[in-house]
Amino acid sequence: MSIVSYILVISKWVLIVILAWLILGQTVGRIIRHFIKYPIPAFLTRLIDNPIRRKFIQNPEIIADRMQLNAGMTVVEIGPGKGSYTKAVAKRVSPDGKVYAVDIQEAVLKYLKQRIEREKISNIVPMLDDAYNFSFGDGSIDRIFAIGCLPEIPDPVRVLCECRRILKPDGLISLCELFPDPDYPRRSTEKRWAEEAGLELRQQFGTWFTYQLNFGKKGD
Ligand SMILES: C[S@@+](CC[C@H](N)C(=O)[O-])C[C@H]1O[C@@H](n2cnc3c(N)ncnc32)[C@H](O)[C@@H]1O
Repeated sequence: MSIVSYILVISKWVLIVILAWLILGQTVGRIIRHFIKYPIPAFLTRLIDNPIRRKFIQNPEIIADRMQLNAGMTVVEIGPGKGSYTKAVAKRVSPDGKVYAVDIQEAVLKYLKQRIEREKISNIVPMLDDAYNFSFGDGSIDRIFAIGCLPEIPDPVRVLCECRRILKPDGLISLCELFPDPDYPRRSTEKRWAEEAGLELRQQFGTWFTYQLNFGKKGD
């Protein structure tokens, strides 16, 4: 077999795999997720935070740059996964600022705790808490962010109302979504959820494939 025909065969299979993923993964995945809303298993949160995504699709440094972070800020992340985005944000609010990495799954936090110990990061606080009912006080948080997380939670408007409660008057909520996520909502859907929760759009970035929206409290 010549090198050209070898490349053609490989390309054909790559195309078939991509098409199968698009049709089966996306269609079937979305139908299943529409009916069964369960949190993603902890091991999958480590799988989706991979070098390809971090380098080419959702770069943690770019995402953190869009959040208007300053040293000393108090930040809450919902669903930190493996902690790559948590780490980029923690760096920008250090030395006195903190990132509370909140999840309802102990297994997700266990891995994150191991990582921050290994990498000696002192301003990330893993915390078992529920985004429907945060333990934080009213108006106490500068920034809240969630990456590929909000649409996984069955009542996103309730979560955004709770975010609004804990956000300082000049605070921001930053939401980031990625098309291959079977829970991916269109930008207009996420804007509607935020509007229903009393938030207003301040900035938007990205494309239909991956976008990031910053919201503030309406009227503030
Ligand atoms: C898709 S994962 C997050 C992925 C991660 N942000 C990333 O970009 O790699 C969503 C996370 O949200 C968490 N979660 C779901 N419902 C929640 C809730 N009510 N409160 C807090 N965390 C929740 C799940 O346990 C899961 O770890």
